[in-house]
Amino acid sequence: MTETTQEQPSQETLWAGKSGDRWLANIDGFEGMIKPIGDALIKQTAFSQGEHIIDIGCGAGATSLAIAQEVGVSGSVTGLDISPVLVNEATKRAEKLKLENIKFMLGDAAVATLPNGQADCVFSRFGIMFFSNPYAAFTHIHGFLKPSGRLSIACWSSLPENPWMFEIVNVLATHFPLPTPVPRAPGAFAFAEPSYVKEILQTAGFQDITISPWQQNLLIGGSNPSPESTAEFLLKATSLGQLPEDLSDTVKTAIHSELSNRLRAYETKDGVQMPSSVWFVEAKA
Ligand SMILES: C[S@@+](CC[C@H](N)C(=O)[O-])C[C@H]1O[C@@H](n2cnc3c(N)ncnc32)[C@H](O)[C@@H]1O
Repeated sequence: MTETTQEQPSQETLWAGKSGDRWLANIDGFEGMIKPIGDALIKQTAFSQGEHIIDIGCGAGATSLAIAQEVGVSGSVTGLDISPVLVNEATKRAEKLKLENIKFMLGDAAVATLPNGQADCVFSRFGIMFFSNPYAAFTHIHGFLKPSGRLSIACWSSLPENPWMFEIVNVLATHFPLPTPVPRAPGAFAFAEPSYVKEILQTAGFQDITISPWQQNLLIGGSNPSPESTAEFLLKATSLGQLPEDLSDTVKTAIHSELSNRLRAYETKDGVQMPSSVWFVEAKA
């Protein structure tokens, strides 16, 4: 008998399809939860009126819309994303707000055609850890920037430092074997190692790279008040929480109950607050 290894779809394929759809289906939970990170990164980036910004992997455009207010009508924001449903939602939001200095484009940031050398800043909250070839992708992205331009991005630190994801893994591992994590593999935790991020950016042509930690509690799932509903959010919305289809209802119920129990340790009057650990990465073109 010949052993076959099943080819996993690339992150680009997933985000252009079911991962993008899942992010949109759970948009309030995700955006509510990571809002403090976007706010802090936007503050640190210190945009000026008149600047032209590209928001990579902009999702449904929450950060793009906020940046559009910062750069004013003499500036502009281009949100770029590989998911058609997210670009569609972002466009609808901008139309509703009647913002004229913003546009959204569908495309893979690793190869998308944008005017070269025109942007003052490339920004991203968690939209840049998914490239199959990050060295080539960031070299391409570097080309979008003016010689005086800058990069400002946020990426997750390691899985164990982000218990809102690690607790899911801890629970699932007691029920079925999980694939061994591959360090640096494209995905949420690909950029956990600062030395790897620095190497990618240096290879891509960036200079003066600074990587600083941002560590605060997050309200998991935005405004999910109970550990039970937060466990439901994590199992429904996150990539790590996707259970094998053939799992019995008894095991699914046990997983939900065990995860709820672990989340109870983080329960507050506002919901489940858990520590998070993120890198803020800044660099010059
Ligand atoms: C974790 S979500 C973050 C969305 C958004 N930045 C936010 O913070 O609300 C990751 C986003 O990156 C996008 N993405 C992943 N790979 C991409 C690529 N190669 N080119 C463009 N967008 C990509 C996904 O479609 C998704 O919208």
